[in-house]
Amino acid sequence: MNIIEFKNVSFGYGKNAVLEDFSLRIEKGTFTAVLGRNGSGKSTLARLINGLLLPRSGCVMTCGMDTSDEEQIYNIRSRAALVFQNPDDGIVSAVVEDEAAFGAENLGIEPAEIRKRVDAALKETRLYQKRLAMTAQLSGGEKQRLAIASALVMEPEVLILDEPTSMLDPEGRREFLETVKRLAGRGMTVVLITHDMEEAAEAQRCIIMGSGKIVLDGAPVEVFADSTKLEELALCAPEMQRLAAELRKHGIDVPDDIFGTEEMANYIEGIFLRGVLGSTLD
Ligand SMILES: Nc1ncnc2c1ncn2[C@@H]1O[C@H](COP(=O)(O)OP(=O)(O)O)[C@@H](O)[C@H]1O
Ligand SMILES: [Mg+2]
Repeated sequence: MNIIEFKNVSFGYGKNAVLEDFSLRIEKGTFTAVLGRNGSGKSTLARLINGLLLPRSGCVMTCGMDTSDEEQIYNIRSRAALVFQNPDDGIVSAVVEDEAAFGAENLGIEPAEIRKRVDAALKETRLYQKRLAMTAQLSGGEKQRLAIASALVMEPEVLILDEPTSMLDPEGRREFLETVKRLAGRGMTVVLITHDMEEAAEAQRCIIMGSGKIVLDGAPVEVFADSTKLEELALCAPEMQRLAAELRKHGIDVPDDIFGTEEMANYIEGIFLRGVLGSTLD
C-alpha cells in the first residue's frame, strides 16, 4: 500500500517553479532516504507530504487523505509527523516530559493514555532517564530525539525527518540514526532527508533529487553505483563505496554492499587471514 503518493504535482514559490508534473509513491513500512544538493526541492517535498504546503496542481495523498482537503489537515499533520533541521525549532516546554506530551495534549488524548505513551516514547528514544531534565540543557542530539519522542506520542504512521542531523556532532548523529533505524526496523514508515551519503546508505530506498526532479531512485547499492550521475549532481558516493570501486580496479572483488568502515575493515581482514592461512597450508 502506498502511504504517500504524489500524482503529477506542480508547486512553486511565486514565479519560481520547484516541482513540475512530479510523481512519487512511497510504500507503507519502508525506510526511504531523499538526497540532493541545497535547493533541489527536498524541504518543499517534505512540507507537501504533511500538508504544510499544498500543490498548485495535481494531488498529494498522505495516509489515504488528500492534503488539499481542509477538513483532514489536522489529521494529516498528526499521522505524518515532520521533524525539522534545527534542534531548537519547535521546542515549547521547559521540561522534557512536558515537551513530549505537548502535541498529544493538543489532540485531546486522555491524560492517563498520554502518560503511558510519553513514557514509552522517551524509552524508545533513550531519554527516559532525562524525563525531568530541562529541555534547554539537552544536547542537540537529545533535542532531536525529543522531537521524535513528541511525534511518537501522537502515534504517527509516517516520520518525515528534514536534515535532522545536519546540526549535530558525530556522537549526536550516531545516536539519532540508531533511533531512526530501530523505528524503521519495527515497520514505521520513515522518510529521511539528508545530504549525508553514509546516512542514506542505511535506508532501503534512496531517492536523489536534482532541481525538482527525481534523478536516481533505487536501493542504495544501485544508486551509489552510478558515479557518473552522482558527479553530474556534484554528489559523491560514500567513501567506502569509492574505496571499493578503486579496489575492484586492482582486481579485488569487493562485494557491493559494503558501506561502513567497520564492514570494510572486516572484509580486508578476511583477505589477509585467507592469505596467511593459504600460505601456511602450502
Ligand atoms: N519560502 C520560500 N520562498 C521562495 N522560494 C523558496 C522558499 N523556500 C524554498 N524556496 C526555493 O525553492 C527551491 C527548493 O528549495 P528547498 O525545497 O528548500 O530545497 P532543499 O531543501 O533541497 O534545499 C530553491 O530554489 C529555494 O530557493
Ligand atoms: Mg531543505
